[in-house]
Amino acid sequence: MWTKERIVLPLIENLHEIEVYKKNGGYQNAKKAFALHPDEVIDTVKKSGLRGRGGAAFSAGLKWSFMPKSTDKPKYLCINGDESEPGSFKDRQIFEYNPHQLIEGVLIACHAIGANIAYVYIRGEYHKWIKLFQKALDDAYAAGYVGAGMKNTFGTDFKVEIYVHKGAGAYICGEESSLMNSIEGHRGYPRVKPPFPAQKGLWGCPTTINNVETLANVPVIIDKGWEWFSSIGSPKHPGTILYGVSGHVNKPGVYELPSGTLLTDIIYNYAGGVPGDKKIKCVIPGGSSMPPLRGDSLEGIKMDADSLKEAGSSIGTAGIMVMDEDTDLIAVLARITAFYYHESCGQCTPCREGTGWMLKILKRMARGNATKKDLDLLVSVANNIDGNTICALGEAAAWPVKFMVQRFRDEFESKMKDEIEIAVPNKVHSMRDTVNPIASITI
Ligand SMILES: Cc1cc2nc3c(=O)[nH]c(=O)nc-3n(C[C@H](O)[C@H](O)[C@H](O)COP(=O)(O)O)c2cc1C
Ligand code: SF4
Repeated sequence: MWTKERIVLPLIENLHEIEVYKKNGGYQNAKKAFALHPDEVIDTVKKSGLRGRGGAAFSAGLKWSFMPKSTDKPKYLCINGDESEPGSFKDRQIFEYNPHQLIEGVLIACHAIGANIAYVYIRGEYHKWIKLFQKALDDAYAAGYVGAGMKNTFGTDFKVEIYVHKGAGAYICGEESSLMNSIEGHRGYPRVKPPFPAQKGLWGCPTTINNVETLANVPVIIDKGWEWFSSIGSPKHPGTILYGVSGHVNKPGVYELPSGTLLTDIIYNYAGGVPGDKKIKCVIPGGSSMPPLRGDSLEGIKMDADSLKEAGSSIGTAGIMVMDEDTDLIAVLARITAFYYHESCGQCTPCREGTGWMLKILKRMARGNATKKDLDLLVSVANNIDGNTICALGEAAAWPVKFMVQRFRDEFESKMKDEIEIAVPNKVHSMRDTVNPIASITI
């Protein structure tokens, strides 16, 4: 059943099957929402305090309210299931275990913003989850909950068509404006904002983009009311959160828990602690792009947007990456940076060039060929990326670097040399000591 601990992934066997979902009251919340004025639905979601689960934790109701009320253009809803951030693997649980709640959330959101078409954008590598979600969508169409059948089922003239759009394996297509370019069939380049999607989105029309988990919360908010939802977890970031725990823990996985649960509680009580009872050196709490935290500073940190900001990091996608005391942080940072270098779309010079420069320096550090000056150079490159790019991939690449170095400076410095002698062979002189190389060439 849906409880204050289990909103998105309730413990109901076979809930992915449409008959089971229906038996448990499925699609009745869409019916309830359709009977309300769209503004009432927006107001309910606003008051519930639901914040986006895709990274920025922006108010879902407020975002919906930005959609123009009177326009002769079609409006669209995009559902972001690109989920390519390293350390983030929670949306696929919804595609697999509770796809109909997502579909119902899509219907309610479309009613609220006045959209008749929705695109569910799913990460290209998620073959299994694309299939599973498509099956659920086909069943919802066949049962008349989506498309032309809605007239009979819900007794409404309001109709929504939902399409699954597969990505092609680019992390950048999770950024909302490149996601829209990708759907339009263009290269996944982020767009300059403003204009924001609600003003000029898909094909130049008003568009709202929401994360999969965000929308999966909506039917339960309609069912149980905004007061119920807003009383769960942290008052300023209420509800449950799907925490994805990976790295050095005994039981990695996705844990749905109220927002504001202690980070240490999630790691030690739910994820089973660290193998071999080793100490934790570092935790990245929101997917690889968020500022890393020191293992000795985790006590009392709550997992919600405001508490993590206060602790010097960010909730991101709530992908908690745990690293034990034996972890080589230079190797970790080089791997993370290699990812962002590879995924940079190349439009902005600081991101295109800077990610490559950071990677070169980090590789030099990993080989033991770097000096302490390289550390400052690394941070200076990261600072020049941060805030100077079209989209937030720039920050995603810069933050782990600058905050990891800042918070673990001692460890980095201990692996740096003061000076390095670089032996540059003088080719002209060395050739003098050998047989004339040109004379040895036979034509
Ligand atoms: C480089 C980059 C990648 C992103 N990837 C995702 C993603 O995979 N899924 C997602 O929901 N949001 C992703 N986002 C955030 C989206 O741009 C957008 O803010 C989000 O989908 C809005 O949904 P929400 O308000 O429901 O959180 C990404 C942002 C950036 C800058
Ligand atoms: S910040 Fe990077 S990924 Fe984003 S638009 Fe610029 S070059 Fe592309």
